[in-house]
Amino acid sequence: MNQQHRDLIERDRKVTFHASTHLRDFAHGDAPGRVITGGKGIHIVDKDGREFIDGFAGLYCVNIGYGRTEVAEAIYQQALELSYYHTYVGHSNEPQIALSEKIIELAGPGMSKVYYGLGGSDANETQLKIVRYYNNVLGRPQKKKVISRQRGYHGSGLATGSLTGLKAFHDQFDLPLAGILHTEAPYYYHRAAEQEGMSEREFSQFCAQKLEEMILAEGPDTVAAFIGEPVLGTGGIVPPPEGYWEAIQAVLAKYDVLLIADEVVCGFGRIGADFGSHHYGIKPDLITVAKGLTSAYQPLSGVIVGDRVWSVLEQGTGQYGPIGHGWTYSGHALGCAAALANLAIIEREGLTRNAAETGAYLQQQMQAAFGEHPIVGNVRGVGMLAALEFSIDPAKRAHFDAAHKVGPRIAAAALDENLIARAMPQGDILGFAPPLVATRAEVDEIVARAERAVNKVTDELVREGVVKAAMSVS
Ligand SMILES: Cc1ncc(COP(=O)(O)O)c(C=O)c1O
Repeated sequence: MNQQHRDLIERDRKVTFHASTHLRDFAHGDAPGRVITGGKGIHIVDKDGREFIDGFAGLYCVNIGYGRTEVAEAIYQQALELSYYHTYVGHSNEPQIALSEKIIELAGPGMSKVYYGLGGSDANETQLKIVRYYNNVLGRPQKKKVISRQRGYHGSGLATGSLTGLKAFHDQFDLPLAGILHTEAPYYYHRAAEQEGMSEREFSQFCAQKLEEMILAEGPDTVAAFIGEPVLGTGGIVPPPEGYWEAIQAVLAKYDVLLIADEVVCGFGRIGADFGSHHYGIKPDLITVAKGLTSAYQPLSGVIVGDRVWSVLEQGTGQYGPIGHGWTYSGHALGCAAALANLAIIEREGLTRNAAETGAYLQQQMQAAFGEHPIVGNVRGVGMLAALEFSIDPAKRAHFDAAHKVGPRIAAAALDENLIARAMPQGDILGFAPPLVATRAEVDEIVARAERAVNKVTDELVREGVVKAAMSVS
């Protein structure tokens, strides 16, 4: 690492509080840092000039790839005209209007209006407020509980961190808050011994039955909404088992429970459809979008409100006056301009189709490289989302002892190969979500580097006696 890079990191250690970081180790120089200075296509570059393939598109958000000057130009042009004016009491700006039209067109029938925020967490916070308001207006003040899923990820605020079903986001923060519950994760690979013999469809029915039992135990007149990502993301990149969404929606309809589709990762092409909901036949009442909306060229999120909820919001403001909700930066003109330029690129370059086609190739190549690998228990994914789950005994789906930190070790070995893949936070899972511009040749390179990293750690584990010598891959 060059001196300039080291100096920057030293300055950073003194003054910055980083997300998902060992705070003490980072502040005291015992955990690594890196300063990223640029990027082009699927690559990023650090202050040393070292180039990495970003196999996770930032945090699955830089869907159009890095260095797209058209987006920078759109932001610049908008800034010359108007960077900001608030959008309270009916004020608007031209990019916001055009963007809302575009989002409603892409979201499809039944979707009515868009409310903007800056990130996925604040958008889900808006969702929770809408759900409460909706039931208050309908005269059902007791119908307020929200059911999320174990391993769901919906943000890291107090309420949205409560929706998130991951331990690290609850422990030491006294979460989840009351009124937020977590039902079974649609994680077929992790099914318990009692569900061992179930087919995927049977497991989906089992998940729906668990949801129904929860609703009945709580009392259907107290359960307002269910929130889920079409594909579990941060919880492990887990596509739903066959028939899952159909079975879940039948239960929600039976008890008049609103469905919020959190499309922060899936929205705008990532799994080869405009929305994950379209891919899986989900008919949500409310949709959350962020990440791929601007490909992270500006912070912007949105809540898409369906007709059914919108009519009640209108009724409510008729009764109670203007809605008591708003962020200073809602509908920020620069974010909306960036989003329009981003969506134009996705459309012009057919990136959603590429996510379907090159994504299918990514899935194939992952299967070919890792399907029979001695420490890989599960290879899964859809479109440009993929994961490897490591196992000490794949035939038994047995987990490694967490103390071996197999997932983080493999992510570190991938980094040595100049490949960024993400060690997912709960389990030994390596996630991939390359920019949607990735070509087949780039997919080949991602898989080749990942293979070298997995093999290197496998051999280390053999040498350490963690796995059997027969598993050696060298
Ligand atoms: C599905 C989903 N919802 C919400 C969020 C929260 O978004 P943000 O980090 O922008 O607040 C994320 C972030 O990864 C996400 O994956």
